Amino acid sequence: MEQKPYIQLNHIHKTFPGVYALRDVSLSVYPGEVHGLVGENGAGKSTLIKVMAGYHTANQGEYLIEGKPAQIHSPNDAIRSGIAVVYQELNVVDSLSVAENIYFGRLPRTAAGTVRWKKLYEDTRTILERLGLSIDPKRKVGYLSIAQKQLVEIARSISMNPRVIIMDEPTSALAPTEIEIILHIVKKLKEQKVGILYISHKLDEVLEICDRITVLRDGEFIQCLEDSQSTEDRLINLMVGRKLDEMFRRSNCAEEEIALKVEGLTSEKVKDIDFYVKRGEIVGFSGLMGAGRTELAKAVYGEDPRLKGTVEIYGKPVGKNSKEKSVKMGMGFIPEDRKDEGIFPNLGIKKNTTISSMEGCSVKGVIKGAREREITDRMIEELRIKTPDREQLIVNLSGGNQQKVLIARWLAKKNLKVLIVDEPTRGIDVGAKAEIYGLLDSLARSGLAVVVMSSEMQEILGVCDRIYVMRGGRIVGEYTAEEATQEKLLSSAIQART
Ligand SMILES: Nc1ncnc2c1ncn2[C@@H]1O[C@H](COP(=O)(O)OP(=O)(O)OP(=O)(O)O)[C@@H](O)[C@H]1O
Ligand SMILES: [Mg+2]
Repeated sequence: MEQKPYIQLNHIHKTFPGVYALRDVSLSVYPGEVHGLVGENGAGKSTLIKVMAGYHTANQGEYLIEGKPAQIHSPNDAIRSGIAVVYQELNVVDSLSVAENIYFGRLPRTAAGTVRWKKLYEDTRTILERLGLSIDPKRKVGYLSIAQKQLVEIARSISMNPRVIIMDEPTSALAPTEIEIILHIVKKLKEQKVGILYISHKLDEVLEICDRITVLRDGEFIQCLEDSQSTEDRLINLMVGRKLDEMFRRSNCAEEEIALKVEGLTSEKVKDIDFYVKRGEIVGFSGLMGAGRTELAKAVYGEDPRLKGTVEIYGKPVGKNSKEKSVKMGMGFIPEDRKDEGIFPNLGIKKNTTISSMEGCSVKGVIKGAREREITDRMIEELRIKTPDREQLIVNLSGGNQQKVLIARWLAKKNLKVLIVDEPTRGIDVGAKAEIYGLLDSLARSGLAVVVMSSEMQEILGVCDRIYVMRGGRIVGEYTAEEATQEKLLSSAIQART
């Protein structure tokens, strides 16, 4: 890398009220370089790229583009300087077409001001081809999968012909085959001499594609590793700054009594599902993307209509097919798309955590503030939620820490008997993953029946006492923790139907 970096940040400081988000951080991105940025939830990754992108102004420090002081005071300045960002949250408009989303705010127009649709679709097709994607430019984005929406976002940033593209966790909601597409695009952009800053909690990805990797911890620059120096262990060590606790161990505390029993369950998406979970047991559902895990969870919980079959909690049928009924009978469901389920952006962490467990906290209508504070503080500690205090607005937390608060909301509920968790550690850093596993385990030990849906095989193998494998909306395999191996799970998941 003899040439000059395209972007260079030196000694950047950024504070928010009560939070020192970045402290003396430096980073550079060269043309044609893939630069990884890693760190725990709340380490300062998103803040750093928001400084680069003109959303935040640093309190101190130097920002150079091609060696000269950059004049970046707004996102538009950044775009004009050739810096495009794919943010952690999806920002597409479902009711518009792929082409309109890609050229949003920049539609080609005639002198008279009408949109040049033909040119719009042609330009879009060119961009999509450049990325090797076959998506119809006229299709409404609302019909696309999350992965395709993510690809549309990437296409939008590329349509600006940037010199540097910043990607904040572009693959966190994607399956392995879709991740491959993104990694392939990154490699192509690299060939085209675009610089890429790549943020991800998936260290294997980062190690695969990055030329250099910068590690942040608690807002501080820790180290910038060259490709040849980096291994997963080394990265984790630098990120976490402590030895990770011993690999998490299950306590295996399933009792005989059956807590959740599902028989003959059929919905639009799943067929003839029979399974059970004992009191104190953690049961996992594995399978490839689209195998039907999320759909099964929704049908059991009563969010998707059940066409046939029964769901029982401790022998009592959850007769009515409604979420409210399920919740009343002691079932909880933490969905994979936790943002959709709703954070309350104008409320603090405490209210966001306890909002659905108020029953336990009020006496004659008087909310027991002390109890709320106690629950919240316990969750902040157990889930390692990074925040100056429990009153902080949830929108001010980092992406991963918002996820943790939504998990905390369910864990704070009383009278839970069965908890279904879909993708419990999506967007969550390596250190905090173990805490979440520990928490699920202690819930099981206290008598809860836990169901974990996950696309990460390691996760399923690590936490579950028993594992079902799904394919095409059906259960196609069942293993105890002792029998299960990655090979067995995978071969059941992909086996041709006999
Ligand atoms: N607008 C804001 N107001 C107050 N604090 C903020 C704001 N934005 C970020 N922070 C705080 O700055 C710190 C760094 O957050 P940042 O979003 O950069 O983390 P991150 O490394 O991207 O984490 P994650 O992996 O969870 O996305 C966190 O403690 C966060 O709570
Ligand atoms: Mg972030």
